[in-house]
Amino acid sequence: MTAVEPTGQILGATVGGMDLSKPLSDADFAAILLALGTHGVLRFPGQRLEAVELRDFSRRFGRIQATLTGRHHEPGMPEVGYLSNIIENGEPIGITDAGQDWHTDMSYNETIGYLNVLYAVKVPRRDGRVLGATAFVNTQAAYEDLAPEVKARLEHATATHDFNKFWENMRRRPGSLRAPLSEEQRRRRPPSVHPVFLTHPITGRRVLYCNPGYAIRINELDAAESDRVLADLFAHQLQPRYQYTHHWTEGDVLVWDHIGTLHNAIADYRPDEHRLMKRCQVMADRIFEPAFVREALSAATSPTGATAR
Ligand code: SIN
Repeated sequence: MTAVEPTGQILGATVGGMDLSKPLSDADFAAILLALGTHGVLRFPGQRLEAVELRDFSRRFGRIQATLTGRHHEPGMPEVGYLSNIIENGEPIGITDAGQDWHTDMSYNETIGYLNVLYAVKVPRRDGRVLGATAFVNTQAAYEDLAPEVKARLEHATATHDFNKFWENMRRRPGSLRAPLSEEQRRRRPPSVHPVFLTHPITGRRVLYCNPGYAIRINELDAAESDRVLADLFAHQLQPRYQYTHHWTEGDVLVWDHIGTLHNAIADYRPDEHRLMKRCQVMADRIFEPAFVREALSAATSPTGATAR
């Protein structure tokens, strides 16, 4: 059975006693769903996973989105992407600059992202210091602290999220290897519209779902006012009091809930300091289905160890 140990910070918990290479029991699946809702970011230390095991664990939670470029993934398995600065035969084996600013994966999709599942294969270090951390923001806490008038004003507002915003931000960085998105790539990732506030499907808490990486417009406001409100929302949620940073160890599997968090991959390592993460991006296609959640949580065990069924 799982032991969930919270970090004591604004996000994060370590889940001990689980071997993710084995199929999850219904009770462990329920425990993970509940812990993800509560803690947002879960670390499963000491894992040794084949790509197929990472994929099978991840797809228990929903459909996996394959990489856009059609490269940078486990051979024959586009659901398991590589994030890496390692060069082989003159070519990077993974996406070199993935997620290196604040964002929420897949908010640009009509079906938004639910989870990222990252498996740490290589972690950069310098003089004994671990580099390449991932920072997070708690968007449930950020919503709660919004002024009542902001909550009321934006209660029914929607925002447009555009994949190209983040892509172009990355492209502007010195040394970027990204080409502009082709017409075909833009067609496959059109902008989409979501409420500015969502209700988290597990906790039932309201969430500020409007991230600096992809949100370009609040649709019910004129352009200048939308820019002002977006700037305020971004500044509010990025305050240090909502942030938590995970420092990686090889063998960590980190699972985070995109509905309740933002994240930012910290690029503080050099090209010769190698980082390799294997990643599955899980969509929120199942988690917003009440029947899926009800069925999954019915296997949750009570504190005494009895199942809820
Ligand atoms: C991501 O944004 O999915 C990548 C996060 C990381 O590499 O730490």
